[in-house]
This record gives sequence, C-alpha cells and structure tokens, in this order.
Amino acid sequence: MKKVEDYITTIPDFPEPGIMFRDITSVIQDADGLKLAIDEMVKLLDGVDFDVIAGAESRGFIFGMPIAYLLHKPFVLVRKAGKLPRETVSKSYDLEYGQATIEIHKDAVKPGQKVVLVDDLIATGGTMKAAAELIEELGGKVEKIIFLMELAGLKGRDVLKGYDVASVVSYEGK
Ligand code: PRP
Ligand code: MG
Repeated sequence: MKKVEDYITTIPDFPEPGIMFRDITSVIQDADGLKLAIDEMVKLLDGVDFDVIAGAESRGFIFGMPIAYLLHKPFVLVRKAGKLPRETVSKSYDLEYGQATIEIHKDAVKPGQKVVLVDDLIATGGTMKAAAELIEELGGKVEKIIFLMELAGLKGRDVLKGYDVASVVSYEGK
C-alpha cells in the first residue's frame, strides 16, 4: 500500500540552489495519490468542530476545496494581493524565498466562526501565520491548521506556536 510520501517528488536546487523542492504535482496527477492525500488530510480533522475552511492561494486551494466539499463546509479564499473584488483585509509576510501579501474578503468569516486553515506545505510558517492573523482580524477563531507536508527543519511550527498544527508528511530537513 503506497503512502503519500511515495507520491511526492523532490527536486534539488529549485527554485534556488540549496532548496529541496517538494513537488505536489506528482501527488495529484495520480488519481490514487490525489485520493490518498485528501483522505489523509480529512483524517487530521477527525473530531474537530469547525464552521469554515480557508485555503491559501494557490496550492492551498487544491487541497482545501475538496476537503470542504467532502465535509460539507464553506470554503474561503486567502488570495494573493489584488485578486479579490470586494472589500478585503490584507497582510504582508516573508516567504522562504521572497515576500508576499495575502488578502481575504471582509465578509468571508463572521465573528465567532471557527476556521480550519489549509495549505499544501509549511516551510517557515509565514504564510499560515499571516492567514491566521487575517482570520483573527475578522473575529474568527483558528481551530486547526493542516498541511499535506511539513519541512520540520525550518521550524515553522515555532512561528505557529499556540495553534493546533498537523501535517500528513514531515520532512526532517529544509
Ligand atoms: C508555498 C507553499 C505554501 C508556502 C509555504 O506557496 O504552497 O503556501 O509557500 O511557505 P512558508 O511556510 O514559508 O510561508 P507559494 O507562496 O510559493 O505559492 P503557491 O502556493 O501559489 O505555489
Ligand atoms: Mg502556497
């Protein structure tokens, strides 16, 4: 029986020397890999009581949306700057390489709603930290943050201290 890690491809020195790129396209371009990845992420939400799933553009959409569909929850977009048409709140943060700004519609989360955040990967934790702050700015509560994989060597969990964080696959290195 194959595991999720068997479907992940590792590309050394992409997009920069020294970065081991963990590629999820090889997971989702295989029907069994796609199903396994989503099923394993859904398992991370066993017993979690929540109202909304929010996914981070763009790879967080790939995994967040099918989970929302399967669990019959609304799906909210945390998008890169300048893409959302209505009133937004936004936050800038540092990436493993580069800088970014993300936004969410002001009406995407109502005060008091419990939100699960989804992304493909935690590296430095910057993306999900910024996303969590946006949810909280709208009065939501971040109930859990889930990833398909985690680069444990980058210590992103330290950045997300205080949140309930879980991932399907963990890589020791960076
Ligand atoms: C990647 C990845 C995560 C984030 C992880 O997204 O999909 O969202 O970086 O890094 P962090 O933990 O250091 O914040 P990226 O911004 O490269 O864009 P993409 O999802 O659109 O490919
Ligand atoms: Mg991303």
